[in-house]
Amino acid sequence: MIYKRYTVTSALPYANGPIHIGHLAGVYVPADIYVRYLRSTDKDVVFIGGSDEHGVPITIKARQQGVTPQQIVDKYHGIIKESFREFGISFDIYSRTSNLVHHETADDFFRNLYNKGEFVEKFSMQYYDEENKQFLADRYITGTCPHCGNEKAYGDQCEKCGTTLNATDLINPRSAISGNAPVMKETRHWFLPLDKYESFLRHWILDTHKEDWKTNVYGQCKSWLDQGLQPRAVTRDLDWGVKLPSEIEGSEGKVLYVWFDAPIGYISATKELTPEWEKYWKDKESKLVHFIGKDNIVFHCIIFPAMLKAEGSFILPDNVPANEFMNLEGDKISTSRNWAVWLHEYLTDFPSRQDELRYVLCANAPETKDNDFTWKDYQAKNNNELLAIFGNFVNRTLVLTHKYFNGIVPELGEVNDNDKNTIEEINAFPQRIASSIENYRFREAINEMMNLARLGNKYLTENEPWKIFKTDENRVKTILNISLQICANLSILCEPFLPFTAGKLCTMLNINQQKWENAGKTDLMKEAHQLSEVGLLFQKIEDAEIEMQIQKLLDTKKANEEAAFVAKAAKTNIEYDDFAKIDLRVGCIIEAEKVPKTKKLLKLKIDTGIDQRTVVSGIAEFYEPENIIGQKVSILVNLAPKNLKGIESQGMILMAEDHDGKLCFVSPTLEVKSGSEIK
Ligand code: MF3
Ligand code: ZN
Repeated sequence: MIYKRYTVTSALPYANGPIHIGHLAGVYVPADIYVRYLRSTDKDVVFIGGSDEHGVPITIKARQQGVTPQQIVDKYHGIIKESFREFGISFDIYSRTSNLVHHETADDFFRNLYNKGEFVEKFSMQYYDEENKQFLADRYITGTCPHCGNEKAYGDQCEKCGTTLNATDLINPRSAISGNAPVMKETRHWFLPLDKYESFLRHWILDTHKEDWKTNVYGQCKSWLDQGLQPRAVTRDLDWGVKLPSEIEGSEGKVLYVWFDAPIGYISATKELTPEWEKYWKDKESKLVHFIGKDNIVFHCIIFPAMLKAEGSFILPDNVPANEFMNLEGDKISTSRNWAVWLHEYLTDFPSRQDELRYVLCANAPETKDNDFTWKDYQAKNNNELLAIFGNFVNRTLVLTHKYFNGIVPELGEVNDNDKNTIEEINAFPQRIASSIENYRFREAINEMMNLARLGNKYLTENEPWKIFKTDENRVKTILNISLQICANLSILCEPFLPFTAGKLCTMLNINQQKWENAGKTDLMKEAHQLSEVGLLFQKIEDAEIEMQIQKLLDTKKANEEAAFVAKAAKTNIEYDDFAKIDLRVGCIIEAEKVPKTKKLLKLKIDTGIDQRTVVSGIAEFYEPENIIGQKVSILVNLAPKNLKGIESQGMILMAEDHDGKLCFVSPTLEVKSGSEIK
């Protein structure tokens, strides 16, 4: 099918936090590459983005911070929008779901389905906070997890053991707003009967998209469909979101479920962008593509299409190229654990290095399985690929042209077989890259683009113009002419991936950014054209910069471990007589040395007040012998002696074990005589 135009959407991020590399890698970099490519081929395309500003977590965050939900979304919408701008994500519009157009559009959509009788009305019992006169969303209820005993589990999930819960599963449920025990109260909601669309969806996805949808997407859809679809509530008891039409009986205090209104946000944003929005959403000759992460698959492949189908006048997505997740240094990216590389922080540490990150995230994109971002890999890809291949090739070509020909494009003379082959190879690149992009294989596409730079390097290395300039200047002219054509091709073909680099390269070549149809040609750089000054496309990233980032993550990990520490439960009770058998004294270390051939053991001499005795203790990893002379300790003096590594240990000193395994002395805070009893 040949399409007339493209409607490209990218998931609307929740405006309750800044965005990180996982967002870029999973959704926005691939979407932006796709759209930039389409624009370069002169397609009619709209690229839609915006903030998802409704939902319970935003209201919770607002409550925690003592501000309004609107203040929360205003703040993060601003930060997110700015990050996207800085990274060159070239939305035609970046809108938001709290604005009026969206509320009107979502309201229309709901009314339309309501009036057509597409919803099923149902009554159910739900927790209610009597003090605040409000029904409680699952997230607003805390209580004890029936599986692991965590007392701070939420009504939808226990974050300690990871179990998905129903609010009614919680033991001793509490309202997160008032702390009171909630009561059960009847409430009315409207459901979209997904079961009614099951056979349509089965046919549309399983039969018509088996070949062209990614296997991870297809597989998730199939498993949902095979389990059978149930009616799904599209309304919530909440006062933040798109209000239900007031004339509907029982609508008071209710809003649309965030996953009902958010995807309609794509339509609202298009409306805001252009009066011709309808052709992008209703004309069968428009190709609708949703870029999302894997946690959004069911909403974009099943629920939103069912909504669109129920409405009746909209097109359905042609493809939903969802990515898997990008992890960070082996761990799942997590906002609450601050385990992320935040885009705004990245730019502070690596100013003007947007393309470097775009490159690494695309070359490593989690297209078919989860992938891992590591700083070492980031450094390696920058230094060994962008700099050593792309940057180096362009730099050599331009520097030689300036050196030999004052920066003027030399003429193409006689071409030999090697030149001819190279020219033929250049011709073939645009089509190969295009086909990878059109099939949503962006890793393959960016690698192919780099292959053109590799070809350039190989060509220069094989022809060694610097060796023959004195003897065969004409040959050097031809070699540099062809090399410059490769540079010009790179400026076109790298633009979707590395837009800032493309701009710099065009500036150095002193040409305008050209369209895709010109790629593959080898007369882009005209004879006698004057180049501009040579600058650097990429810079080396030093070990110290990377170590700083790794240290930052280690600090985060440490802070998380501290925050996650929970004391072990107490042991079973004993009688006083059991305790009284123990003879504990204050002692003082008077000698200390390492036990040879061991890592952990120190041999200590302790003044117990009763005597001076030898104790072998497993603290060598934490203390240097010379630093603990004079240290007061608590010592168990009536422990039966024990032979350790050939030394008789006469007692045991008490140590407190910190959350990270570090051992600390237990000693009196004031001066106490050695031999004092501890009881
Ligand atoms: N806010 C959702 C998320 O971050 C995505 C919403 S996509 C939309 O997971 F289609 F609903 F807008
Ligand atoms: Zn639990």
